[in-house]
Amino acid sequence: MKIAILGGTGDIGEGLALRLAADTPHRVAVGSREAEKAENKAEEYTTELESRGLDATVAGGENAAVAADARIVVLAVPPYHVGDTVEAVAESLEDGDVLVSPATGMKRDDEGFHYHKPGAGSVTEIVADAAPEGVAVVGAFHNLAAARLANLDADLGVDTLVIGDDADAKRTVADVAEGIEGLRALDAGGIANAPEIEGLTPLLINVASNNDDLHNLGVRFQ
Ligand SMILES: NC(=O)c1ccc[n+]([C@@H]2O[C@H](COP(=O)([O-])OP(=O)(O)OC[C@H]3O[C@@H](n4cnc5c(N)ncnc54)[C@H](OP(=O)(O)O)[C@@H]3O)[C@@H](O)[C@H]2O)c1
Repeated sequence: MKIAILGGTGDIGEGLALRLAADTPHRVAVGSREAEKAENKAEEYTTELESRGLDATVAGGENAAVAADARIVVLAVPPYHVGDTVEAVAESLEDGDVLVSPATGMKRDDEGFHYHKPGAGSVTEIVADAAPEGVAVVGAFHNLAAARLANLDADLGVDTLVIGDDADAKRTVADVAEGIEGLRALDAGGIANAPEIEGLTPLLINVASNNDDLHNLGVRFQ
């Protein structure tokens, strides 16, 4: 399957691109608002994979171009720009494609990070509202630490919670996620449950920043 990671030039995009290319048979492309930036990042990621003796490559291109070629399109962009990004690539999406939202809106004050719930109810809901008809929306990867993903020497041993209103799309994304070594995908219900999952991300950051040796932590449910 082809997977496009829009904003794949950023932190979580790098981690997802490296892990998906290293551990799964899927073809991964990173997107950017600037084709050249994505091409350079894709080359950097491929060099990292090759340096580890892995026979894997990452392609790169402008967001709409990589989305046009993919069945799964991950929106690895800031939460306040998911709607614009879906609109920018909408004509490149086809019936049966799946949009994946890992985004969480957060505010920071002196105490730490706090969930910034958007008016729509959640960032995943904003994506669902913007998605063209026939394109399913799934939330996943919210609670993973980008730096831990991008460090291919690091064991993951964490869960990702997957939400969606289309059971087939949710299963497809869960299967892709579980292709990453050390990552378990758990079904957390429909998009209505997104606020609880998005709200877990600031909690993880607060725990990480207040406890030594807990940087880049994730969650394992047991
Ligand atoms: N970092 C984490 O550990 C982590 C973990 C889980 C989930 N997330 C979520 O994943 C998303 C991306 O996080 P990140 O840390 O990877 O962010 P980031 O590095 O700050 O940004 C990712 C990419 O978004 C693109 N971008 C920036 N401004 C944009 C705009 N106005 N419109 C469209 N694209 C824009 C940029 O790509 P181009 O300039 O190349 O277009 C950038 O490389 C966020 O929504 C975050 O909540 C992050």
